[in-house]
Amino acid sequence: MGWNTWCTDDICGIIDKCTETEIMSVADAIVSQGLDKLGYKYIVMDDCWSSKTRDANGQLQPNNTQFPSGFPHLTNYVHSKGLLIGLYTCIGTETCHGGRPGSFGNYVLDAKTIAGWEFDFVKTDNCNKPSQYTEQELYANFSNALNATGRPILFSLCEWGKEDVESWGGEVAQMFRVQEDHLPLWSWPYTDGAGAGFGQGTSDIIEYVATLNPGQYNQRWAHLDPDFLETLFPITMPFIESRTEYSFWSLWSAPLIVATDIRNMSAEMASIITNPEVIAIDQDPLFQAGNRIDLQPGGGQVWSKNLFAGNKAVILYNNHSAPTTVSVAWPQLGWNSTTQVVVRDLWQRQTLGTFQSGYNATLAAHDVFFFTATAASD
Ligand code: GLA
Repeated sequence: MGWNTWCTDDICGIIDKCTETEIMSVADAIVSQGLDKLGYKYIVMDDCWSSKTRDANGQLQPNNTQFPSGFPHLTNYVHSKGLLIGLYTCIGTETCHGGRPGSFGNYVLDAKTIAGWEFDFVKTDNCNKPSQYTEQELYANFSNALNATGRPILFSLCEWGKEDVESWGGEVAQMFRVQEDHLPLWSWPYTDGAGAGFGQGTSDIIEYVATLNPGQYNQRWAHLDPDFLETLFPITMPFIESRTEYSFWSLWSAPLIVATDIRNMSAEMASIITNPEVIAIDQDPLFQAGNRIDLQPGGGQVWSKNLFAGNKAVILYNNHSAPTTVSVAWPQLGWNSTTQVVVRDLWQRQTLGTFQSGYNATLAAHDVFFFTATAASD
């Protein structure tokens, strides 16, 4: 869990820069608002941190206007707050934005440089990859170079879900992107590569992940990554859609990396990203990703996953643009229709009672009802 620079001051790459001032202010805000206590630990610098050239020794170097104090200073600052810090790199010859140096040909050197700067997390992108190599080979090489440094570094593999990454990503990295960039929109049809035909908005990613049958992939330290959260991105990500996004990421046990501004949180922002019961579903020790178990004619969907305690987390979801009633019957969750099941509303943090046969909720467009279902008796 943490925060990434990409969609705050950078506006998802439109401004094309991150700075030490921004990162230090986010570190301060994480601690002062108690987000660290909820699990938000990683501050990750995305693309656009580096100088356009390597230094005289061939090492990567930060842009010195954006980072006048340099990296040991910045990583020390973040560590002094009890937080962890991450850096973006690219498997190919140049990063995705602005012709900055990629790591191809320098994996060992760059891994050593990054470990020497005391970073704790590395995201590795996939632009400008020489085509004679497979992604699996190159990412495995970079992963080995990081391991050889001896420093514990969380490796975040970002190859956009190509080359069947679900089948090998977990062996090479602790999180692996399954799709193109998540844009701060409900629906956006364009996608190149994995997820083609689905798109890059929140609803598109939900539909694409459904096709992956995600429950078969996650393990502890090997997490399917639907990309960062675009929680309440100004104008284009309203409250309900942001809460739906967070609910699914939690049901999938996905990394909860918020990419929007979490400084001076609004009440709406706090209500989405600080709900301990929703976070607990994401962090549940089974680390299972929930699957879609039902598609209903009125636009309703039912998703669920097993939890460590033996109960289930369930999402009733309305992906249509008009209100609809979505229902689940207990046999769909593996119980008898006579089983008495306790329903706890996770967003409201309220137990609603004990129900026989099933449960239904009338939902606004794009909304969810996210709950735990716990069998009280057969
Ligand atoms: C790619 C990645 C994004 C982001 C940008 C940075 O598009 O998929 O997550 O890192 O590059 O340039």
